[in-house]
Amino acid sequence: MTNSTGPSMQIPFFRYPHVFGQQREEILATMLAVMDRGAFILQKELEEFEAGLAQYLPVGHAVGVANGTDALIIALRAVGVGPGDEVVLPSHTYIATAAAVHFVGAAPVLVECGDDHMIEPAAAEAAVTSRTRAIMPVQLNGRTCDMDALQAVADRHGVAIVEDAAQGLGSRFKGRHAGTFGAAAGFSFYPAKVLGCFGDGGAVTTNDPEVARKVRLLRDHGRNEQGLVVTWGLNSRLDNLHAAILAAKLKTFESEVERRRQLARLYREGLEEIDDLSLPPGPDNDPDHHDAYQNYEIESGRRDALRAHLEKDGVRTIIQWGGKAVHQFEGLGLAPLKLPRTDRLFERCFLLPMNTSLTDEEVRYITGSIRRFYGLSA
Ligand SMILES: Cc1ncc(COP(=O)(O)O)c(C=O)c1O
Repeated sequence: MTNSTGPSMQIPFFRYPHVFGQQREEILATMLAVMDRGAFILQKELEEFEAGLAQYLPVGHAVGVANGTDALIIALRAVGVGPGDEVVLPSHTYIATAAAVHFVGAAPVLVECGDDHMIEPAAAEAAVTSRTRAIMPVQLNGRTCDMDALQAVADRHGVAIVEDAAQGLGSRFKGRHAGTFGAAAGFSFYPAKVLGCFGDGGAVTTNDPEVARKVRLLRDHGRNEQGLVVTWGLNSRLDNLHAAILAAKLKTFESEVERRRQLARLYREGLEEIDDLSLPPGPDNDPDHHDAYQNYEIESGRRDALRAHLEKDGVRTIIQWGGKAVHQFEGLGLAPLKLPRTDRLFERCFLLPMNTSLTDEEVRYITGSIRRFYGLSA
């Protein structure tokens, strides 16, 4: 609400200090313990975090790596995707998904998303060719794709599923967590993720011990447990300090997800009667999905005016990926592609603030501001 002295609240899109502030004392003690021991690379805290993540999901193996992009590159390589292969993925994703395919020498094939903004299984199937090696569902905005439909496509064509679960931690489809469906999956622990560290971090998960073995080699210069180089690898280890921080945060992770689900309910309460808006599925609307609300991505027919109105009221919003889907970026050398549904989505979509630093009052302020924009009482 604006008056002569400006808006009565200032709500940033994300509060980065909150990532630390939430568990300040516990995390400080954890960091000191690690630093005093000088335990920085491939130490016990990493093993403990990997075991904790594998147990939480649950999944056979979790391997910490340097960031979510590397997680996807390493997952694809470990599954055997390489030069000459095609990989099908949604155009509504971060460039990192397509870049991972590019950097293993394969070709990204971009397809449409459905009404819930997730990869459309029929579009994925239509894009499969004799060169397709894998489908990459992106578990976007803290929601797991319809993995039954995608697995059926993969099975019909004999291709692998490699999940981009960078935004998916904590989300479930039919009770099963994102990151446990594919031949392998990649997670990101970028600070603004539901499980965020104080810089870059990531993990690869898999139920296949052979894939896990390859991932461990690939993240550490191709070295085996005896330190012998047995293949070409990268330096992509999750720092032990970060692993310790993530292990501390994993303890309260489910309550983080629950809080996000409460915030999603509040958004829905305030906004669902507005016909011009398209909201994410509600947390209680579909028993097949348990969403973690990494993001709250809405659509509006008057998007730009609505964003300007919110900005005037002190509420910062963003459009994912700088406002463009992957097929809309020039300069990547991708063949021009028509994806009308994704194009339309990118004229309409944007993200409202969604994180556990938000109070109920702040979310009501945001919904009140949007309601006034549409001529309704706050
Ligand atoms: C959908 C998606 N894929 C991949 C990544 C890459 O993760 P990172 O930034 O940790 O490399 C991100 C991170 O923002 C993401 O949102």
